[in-house]
Amino acid sequence: MDARDVALLERAVELAERGRRHVSPNPLVGAVVSRDGQVLGEGWHAELGGPHAEVQAIAACGEQDLTGATIHVSLEPCCHQGRTPPCTDAILAAGLARVVVASDDPSTKASGRGLGILRDEGVQVASAPADSPVGLRARRQNQPFRKHARTGLPWVMMKTATSLDGRLATHSGDSRWISSGPSRDLAHQWRAEVDAVVVGIGTALADDPQLTARVPGVARQPRRVVFDSEARLPLDGRLVASIDEAPVTLITSRAASRSATEALTASGVEVVVVSGQNEHSRVRSALAELGQRDVTSLMLEGGSHLAGAFFDAGEIDELRLFVAPLLLGGRQAPGLIGGEGVERIADAARPVELTRQAVGDDLLTIARLKEW
Ligand SMILES: NC(=O)c1ccc[n+]([C@@H]2O[C@H](COP(=O)([O-])OP(=O)(O)OC[C@H]3O[C@@H](n4cnc5c(N)ncnc54)[C@H](OP(=O)(O)O)[C@@H]3O)[C@@H](O)[C@H]2O)c1
Repeated sequence: MDARDVALLERAVELAERGRRHVSPNPLVGAVVSRDGQVLGEGWHAELGGPHAEVQAIAACGEQDLTGATIHVSLEPCCHQGRTPPCTDAILAAGLARVVVASDDPSTKASGRGLGILRDEGVQVASAPADSPVGLRARRQNQPFRKHARTGLPWVMMKTATSLDGRLATHSGDSRWISSGPSRDLAHQWRAEVDAVVVGIGTALADDPQLTARVPGVARQPRRVVFDSEARLPLDGRLVASIDEAPVTLITSRAASRSATEALTASGVEVVVVSGQNEHSRVRSALAELGQRDVTSLMLEGGSHLAGAFFDAGEIDELRLFVAPLLLGGRQAPGLIGGEGVERIADAARPVELTRQAVGDDLLTIARLKEW
C-alpha cells in the first residue's frame, strides 16, 4: 500500500457516506476504479436493495476496458447472494487485477471470504492496516453494521441534554427545553440516521414526545420504541396518534395486562414481551429482539432510569451529551444515568475516543465507549 492507495481509500470512505440514512441494515460502502492512479469510475451503495458500491463503480466506467485495473473499496467485497449478486463475481467479470480494501466485513458470510475468493482467482489483494487512519475511519463509519454483524444487537448511541450541574430535568420533571435550538436540530438529524429511537415509559408519560425526525430529507422515519413493563403507554398520546408516520414498538413484560396490550395492538403498536431476572437483563433481551428486526442502530433518548439499565447491561456504545449553561439543583432532580452504576472509580467506563465542540449555547461531548 502506498500513498496513492491511501488517497483512493479515503475517497472510497468519503463516497460511502452518501448512503447514510438510505442503506441500513446494510453497511455504508464506497468504491473507486482506477488505473495508474487515474480514476476511471466511482460508486457507492445508495439504497437498500440497490446495486453495491463495486458494481456502481464498475458501471460508472462505461465501455472502458477494465482489464488489469484496480478497485479501492471501503469494505471487503461481499461473496454471497443477498438482495443482489456477489460483488466478487462483478470484480472478476470486469477483469480487475487488484483489490484494495479499507476494512474487513465481520459478518459470518464474509470475514475474509470475499478476499480469499479473489486471491484464489489470481487477483492481487491488499488491506489497510486496522490501526491506520483510513482503516479506523472505515470501521468507525460502520459501527452499527459491525456490532449487529458480530453480536446480533443494535449499536446504542445515547443522546441526552443536562444542565451544568448534571440534571436531566427539574425535581418536578420539567425538561423542556434544557438544550438550545441548534442542539435540538442536530438531535433530529441523528434520529434520521438511526433505525430506532428509544425512551422509557417515564419519559413517554412526562413529555408525551413524538420521537420522529423533523428535518428535511428524511429517507425513512426511525421506529419508536418504548420500554414499558406494564403497558401504560396512553392510547391518546402523540406516539400512538402518529403511528402512520413511523412504527411504534412497546417492550413490555408478562406483568402487563392483556386488555392494555390488546388495546395497544389494536391501535397498531407492536407489542414485544421480554423476560429477564432484572432490568439490565431485560434490556439485553429487548436488544436481541430489535436486532432480529434488522434494527442495527438506535438512539437512546432517556430518561435516567432506562439509561441506568442500559449502562448496567454494558450496552451504551456511544454517548452524545449536550451540557447547557443553566443550573437546576434539587436532590430529587434526575441525573444522567441511574441504575446501579459502578462500585469503584477503577471500574468506570472510559471513552476510547472523545471529542468536544460548541453547538449553539451548549457544549457537545461525544464519547465513543466501544469499538466494533
Ligand atoms: N434532558 C433530557 O435529555 C431528557 C431526556 C429524556 C427524559 N428526560 C426527563 O427524564 C424524566 C423521565 O426519566 P425517568 O428516569 O423518570 O424515566 P424513564 O427512564 O424514561 O423510564 C423509566 C421507566 O421505564 C420502564 N422500564 C421498562 N423496562 C425497563 C428496563 N428494562 N429497565 C429500566 N426501565 C424500564 C420502567 O417502568 P415500568 O417498570 O413501569 O415499565 C421505568 O420506571 C422526565 O422528567 C423527562 O422529561 C430528560
